[in-house]
Amino acid sequence: MAARLSPPSAHAIAEAADLLAQGRLVGVPTETVYGLAADAASPGAVARLFAAKGRPRFNPLIIHINALEDAACEGRLDGRALALAERFWPGPLTLVAPRAETGRACDLACAGLATVALRIPAHETARAVIAAFGGPLAMPSANRSGGLTATDAHAVADELGEAVDLVLDAGPAPLGLESTVVGLAGPAPLLLRPGALPRGEIEAVIGPLAAPPASDAVQAPGMLARHYAPKHAKLRLEAAAPEPGEAYLGFGPQQPWATLNLSPSGDLVEAAATLFSALRALDGAGYAGIAVAPIPRQGLGEAINDRLARAAAG
Ligand code: TXA
Ligand code: MG
Repeated sequence: MAARLSPPSAHAIAEAADLLAQGRLVGVPTETVYGLAADAASPGAVARLFAAKGRPRFNPLIIHINALEDAACEGRLDGRALALAERFWPGPLTLVAPRAETGRACDLACAGLATVALRIPAHETARAVIAAFGGPLAMPSANRSGGLTATDAHAVADELGEAVDLVLDAGPAPLGLESTVVGLAGPAPLLLRPGALPRGEIEAVIGPLAAPPASDAVQAPGMLARHYAPKHAKLRLEAAAPEPGEAYLGFGPQQPWATLNLSPSGDLVEAAATLFSALRALDGAGYAGIAVAPIPRQGLGEAINDRLARAAAG
């Protein structure tokens, strides 16, 4: 049986909140990508979520709340966290902070770590679901573990099938790329995952972001070498042109051989928003491989190149 899709009417949002209260799973649009939501306080609901994603148990989830006071209930927010929260929340930024005693998120949602990942989303539907449910929601991206991120409701249904009880369909996610994850649990702020908020905007507020130490492997699935992978087609990056049997995913003007173009005008924001749906479409079209045009590395290009490199690895 396929997942049920519904527009985010008041009725559907109330139903989503009811399902979540029963420990069930709901696909929820956010401004970054679609999330698979579960009651963060319920180990049973979170276990069901891990099972639905086929995700390794030790990977911690992002806890989504609507207000700064709720974030401060989950994690200990220092001056750096408050400065970033004030500037970028609600929005595509996740902060990893030491867990607070008062937190409602269960140990399983935090993978037993002493830290918690927090985000206040900006999307109207995500906010309405959190408000109607009345508590923190664990929401990883709504794809099977290691698979392509879902940026619209149909992709959520394709990835998760009947494992998800309801998918709220608000059209394509506006940004199309996951949130940027910043680690604030130690003395130096870390860029744990490049994402929809470019590094430069964060560094303008709290100074330079360091790379996480390789040994620390911060248990971030977005950091595993092979992640965001297409199911069938092999990816070839920085390709000037397609080879026989390959689709070509272009970027910028004058690419007549492009099967699809992430942004004909060369706009990185547009490219981020189209990235996963384009990979998903080409992966489903029967090509042996997908050759991808070089993408500039500045601004959002850092996150786009990061996702492409992980999808191509393995
Ligand atoms: O845009 C997003 O962030 C989406 C939407 C739905 O909000 N969510 C998302 O969640 O991408 P997920 O679970 O696919 O990615 C969460 C990332 C992972 O890289 C995870 O390891 C990292 O956040 N993370 C979570 N808790 C952490 C912690 N305590 N320490 C370090 N990294 C953590
Ligand atoms: Mg993910």
